[in-house]
Amino acid sequence: MIVARSITEQIGRASWIRRMFEEGDRLRAERGPENVFDFTLGNPEVQPPEQVTAALARIAAENRPRSHGYMPNAGYPQVREIIARRLAQRTGLPYDAGHIIMTVGSSGALNTVLKAMLDPGDEVMVLVPYFPEYRFYIENHAGRIVEVETTEDFLPDPARIAAALTPRTKALILNSPNNPTGVVYPARVLDELETVLRGTEVTVLSDEPYRALVFDGCEVPETAVHITRTVTAISWSKSQAISGERIGYLAISPRLPGGDQLREACTFTNRILGFINAPAIWQWVAAEAGECTIDVAAYQHKRDVLVDALTRIGYEVTKPQGTFYLFPKSPIPDDLAFIRLLLQEGVMAVPGSGFGRPGYFRLSLTVPLETVKRSISGFERAFKAARP
Ligand SMILES: Cc1ncc(COP(=O)(O)O)c(C=O)c1O
Repeated sequence: MIVARSITEQIGRASWIRRMFEEGDRLRAERGPENVFDFTLGNPEVQPPEQVTAALARIAAENRPRSHGYMPNAGYPQVREIIARRLAQRTGLPYDAGHIIMTVGSSGALNTVLKAMLDPGDEVMVLVPYFPEYRFYIENHAGRIVEVETTEDFLPDPARIAAALTPRTKALILNSPNNPTGVVYPARVLDELETVLRGTEVTVLSDEPYRALVFDGCEVPETAVHITRTVTAISWSKSQAISGERIGYLAISPRLPGGDQLREACTFTNRILGFINAPAIWQWVAAEAGECTIDVAAYQHKRDVLVDALTRIGYEVTKPQGTFYLFPKSPIPDDLAFIRLLLQEGVMAVPGSGFGRPGYFRLSLTVPLETVKRSISGFERAFKAARP
């Protein structure tokens, strides 16, 4: 067999994504694209902010010397300095360029740090429901995923995390604002986690690609301020609608014991994973375009329209504080069966089972407002079909 058993198995696990795509294509061909309401993709449907495209055009036109060649594997020192300065300002922690490694998005950041940290069999905790790619990233580096349930409101449960700790636990992945729930972890919970992890060598990997996408003025606490052993993974994929450009970074907390060694290791793993370095032009764009974001108000409005409509119909749904996802409860325990009922209405959603939490489904608001509004009758009919 030319393909490794492990990869064949992983492709099998991820096959529901492919099935959703195929189903979407079939539905579009059958009913016409305007009658398919595709809430499956976590990919902003809008154009990047003007500042981003303007910075890109300016930097490309300048054609700076050595702007297309190899560079230090951690990225351009000046870019890392600018990013470190912003982080230092936000957190009050003494970040400098040495704490920053430019990466190929947040997924590149996570793979880089997991490769640097894990020996075969080391354990990494993830909080259910979770971004399904985490499993593959952990297994990429011979780690073992340990799933830990969250509370009723999808917050980290310090008692369950404490109970799941073993001598092999190397890391805990946090993701706030959270995909798929849209929940933002409050400072109080981060402080409780700090207490649980004190005295261990467990490092928190704080995956924050949605940090800038928050509603109602919600502030996302800085994990590194509350948890000593923190490495943050950030990208501009979602906040600036540039997910295809693959730009992000790792920030190693100045408070992390062994941070210098980890920095050296991550610089090396970024290289040997074949990334070599993050995309050159986009490093400069990230530095120069600042932290502008896509129109968050538009997502907030779509969230309000859909949460109100779903609640009126009878769905149970926690109002997200950020991201562009909703994670409603399925009206019947079998989320896969309910997804099929939605499909009959032309509504495409991702089953909660894909995130390790059956009985729910995820909707991504990365569709036009009109699509959201026109989908509502479909949600209503599916609900009635599920609970006649
Ligand atoms: C929670 C989470 N982490 C990481 C990523 C990967 O993002 P990036 O494009 O920055 O690699 C995603 C993308 O959907 C995500 O939802």
